Amino acid sequence: MTDWKIRRAPGIRTELSVPGDKSISHRAIMFAAMANGTATITGFLPSEDCLSTMRAFQQLGVEIERVDETTVIVHGTGGKFTAPAGDIDCGNSGTTMRLLCGVLAAQPFRSRLTGDASLSRRPMKRVIEPLTRMGAKISAEGRTPKGDPSAPLVIEGGALAGIDYTSPVASAQVKSAILIAGLFARGTTSVTEPEQSRDHTERMLTWHVARPRRDGLKVTVVGGTTLESRDFQVPGDISSAAFWLVAAAAQPGSQLLVKDVGLNPTRSGILAVLIRMGARVKEKVEFAEGEARGTVSITGGQLRATEIGGREIPNVIDELPILAVAAALAEGRTVIKDARELRVKETDRIAAVARNLRAFGVQVQENDDGLEIEGGCELHGADVTSDGDHRIAMSSAILGLFAKGTTIVRDTECVNTSYPGFYETLQRIMKPRGAPATTVISKLPVENP
Ligand code: S3P
Repeated sequence: MTDWKIRRAPGIRTELSVPGDKSISHRAIMFAAMANGTATITGFLPSEDCLSTMRAFQQLGVEIERVDETTVIVHGTGGKFTAPAGDIDCGNSGTTMRLLCGVLAAQPFRSRLTGDASLSRRPMKRVIEPLTRMGAKISAEGRTPKGDPSAPLVIEGGALAGIDYTSPVASAQVKSAILIAGLFARGTTSVTEPEQSRDHTERMLTWHVARPRRDGLKVTVVGGTTLESRDFQVPGDISSAAFWLVAAAAQPGSQLLVKDVGLNPTRSGILAVLIRMGARVKEKVEFAEGEARGTVSITGGQLRATEIGGREIPNVIDELPILAVAAALAEGRTVIKDARELRVKETDRIAAVARNLRAFGVQVQENDDGLEIEGGCELHGADVTSDGDHRIAMSSAILGLFAKGTTIVRDTECVNTSYPGFYETLQRIMKPRGAPATTVISKLPVENP
């Protein structure tokens, strides 16, 4: 297990770019695999989660060449896959498992999807139920802590019929699984969500000329549509940039420019939240076709508390742990509500954030659907664990930069599921001039036995 040791750091004054977007990298592989020819994907995120998706499609008979770390060539099979030799291991990745359910429900063979301990505890009824209504046969071998169906999942694929589904959760994974199954189904398939979730699947369908139709919160696809192969460039991940944006926003004198980052409006809610908290943020879209991308610059200052809830939640769902860190550094009481979904992420993120913030000396009230965080108090270094959750590990590390004394973040390998290179970037951008690389962050026990 790798643990990190972190010390208080001065501000940031730099430019950087972040690795490819995780949600988009998954979909770039999946849609290229389902399309009718060969396509090159650049800017691919070579993280554990996205590699799980890549390996899954290789197991399903798709030829995928890795040109370099971030460039892959996918030879699409036109939606016809071959039966996998063994179980498909989705690792820690909910997106891999749930979206694959949509693909495999329509294939004329049996497959079994497994995951790590965290993924095996996560709810799968949300995809099993609508896909079953379409005619899929999916059985769950596992149970969530609440007793609901979870992985391993056994899927007996076959013919599907389109449905008009109203989803009880604003979840892009659920929406995407159904729309993907809809591509293989008889007739049309629609999904209506209670709030708009990230729309990468819809954009990817449009990119591959499958023409999804949007009517408010309802998205419709027509079954039997052939996806056209097209090269795709993945933008930087705004959820990864979020850690540096908060580190800069909360430190007076900091100045950060993030280049080539995804600015899809269903994902960039963190910028609006930071502006409300008093940060000076400039967003410039430089390329708008497919997935918007561009630069974000931010100037640090004293942040103030805000309220985050309602329709904004799906847009910032993955950023809430680092926004909770921003809240701890802001003047006043920040309220995060309507975010019950956080309890079924890689870990129960409401409980994990509350526990870790308290360890730094922050007063936190944990609610069923969120957190109330009293910001602005003096922070002391803490010894905290990630619970194996990448975003908890990185958020805790950023808070450590603002705490007096030394912080230890335990169990940090999980960071590779979304942000390989986070540790090295933190070392590079926080290092005081002339000081050793390990001044602000180092690994235990390797570098500091
Ligand atoms: C994702 C959707 C979100 C998000 C996850 C990635 C996706 O999950 O939290 O990190 O790629 O579709 P839900 O769809 O469960 O909200």
